[in-house]
Amino acid sequence: MALLAGGCTSDGAPPAAPPSSGPPPDFRPGAEGIGDPYFPKYGNGGYDVGGYDLKLRYDPKSGQLRGSATVTATATQDLSRFNLDLAHLVAGKVTVDGRAARATADGNELVITPAAGITRGTAFTAVIEYSGRPEALRNEELGVGGWLRTDDGAFALGEPESASTWFPVNDHPADKATFALAMTVPAGVEAISNGVPGERTTDAGWTTWTWTEKAPMASYLATVAIGQYRVSTSTHAGKPMVIAIPESLPADGPAARSMARTGEVADFLATRFGPYPFDAYGGIVLDDDRVGYALETQSRPVYGNTFFRSGTQTTVVAHELAHQWFGDSVALERWKDIWLNEGFASYAEWLWQEHEGATTAEQNFARRYASFDWSEPPGDPGPEGIFSQSVYQRGAMTVHALRKTIGDEAFFRLLKSWPAEQRNGNVTTTEFIAAAEKESGKDLDSLFQAWLFGTTQPPRP
Ligand code: ARG
Ligand code: ZN
Repeated sequence: MALLAGGCTSDGAPPAAPPSSGPPPDFRPGAEGIGDPYFPKYGNGGYDVGGYDLKLRYDPKSGQLRGSATVTATATQDLSRFNLDLAHLVAGKVTVDGRAARATADGNELVITPAAGITRGTAFTAVIEYSGRPEALRNEELGVGGWLRTDDGAFALGEPESASTWFPVNDHPADKATFALAMTVPAGVEAISNGVPGERTTDAGWTTWTWTEKAPMASYLATVAIGQYRVSTSTHAGKPMVIAIPESLPADGPAARSMARTGEVADFLATRFGPYPFDAYGGIVLDDDRVGYALETQSRPVYGNTFFRSGTQTTVVAHELAHQWFGDSVALERWKDIWLNEGFASYAEWLWQEHEGATTAEQNFARRYASFDWSEPPGDPGPEGIFSQSVYQRGAMTVHALRKTIGDEAFFRLLKSWPAEQRNGNVTTTEFIAAAEKESGKDLDSLFQAWLFGTTQPPRP
């Protein structure tokens, strides 16, 4: 989805030419990758998705998923065919604008050839019926991403990729799209996903749970959790708040008590980053040792229970909620800029800890600055380094160094103007530096050069 707001769109597609002017269309296949140097095969080229509408049924007993995906998109070139990413699942009937289309699987790519070429700038709708037993994607360095089956259901999550294990998708954050899910599961089983909860209906022993995320979302931020959960739905700041705690965990244990502070943490962050960017709040806890991390799935982060094993913990809540501004609403255009996500989310932990009367941001900075491996700069960490200490901790130190350099006034103005101006968009480090220079009136090239790309300790700001 390319938005006009925010000044940055995810693709440089020229506007459509009027049908009768200019050269005749030159239909060519869309690229099999979106063009991210870190992950050349992630996503696809030639179109821009506006929305996904999924109608799915999952049977925990057999592990079978089936249903349909309606993908609305706009061609960004004259398209003879295009790819969607789809792993381990098999497409059946596929239509484009109501006409049967040819669909063939090529590894984890679904290649769709419509009956006729699609001219640049034209909107189209692809409907893909598909089924199979979903499986995760395994990445040597980055771990497992995608659909994981459990004793009583399944869940899907993972960064930098996971969505293609449960729906056909342009699987790269540069192509954000709205998301709607109707997930049918046996009655008595819960199915929790992103965004605003809708109708829940039961028919012949199956319950359909519906969820809508109407702000454009990067594909890795889509999630679903199916199983036995205690789901609490309330209202916070006029918006639905949905918190799901596995029934295997105590109703008033550390996970539940940490989650219960979601609204309070979000409100604190809003005082620093500006208005909360989405229509819903919440969180999902997973009681599964395969998930040793948390993920900022849009409007409803997922937390591995490992965070709460030794008691309540709101640092991770502050981290994942900060991502709602930094990472989700304002998303990456390319994975190499991931410090823009993790540096800010980690810095938000410091702000929250200071607010809670624990460690100050200055103390957090000083402790790390005194002893750190400076040899791996965060500005271009390599595909295997996107979750490195450098990206998180030196990323946060970079934010603090910026604060010290431009002063609190300009810094806290920037923390609000950046998410406001780039809301629902995709950004790069270059754009962030330009915004920081504009807000402060200072030349910040050497600061960012040292902090993001240098291989020795940057001077103390
Ligand atoms: N973005 C997530 C976070 O910072 C991290 C995901 C890490 N993924 C992993 N497989 N370790 O909260
Ligand atoms: Zn993070």
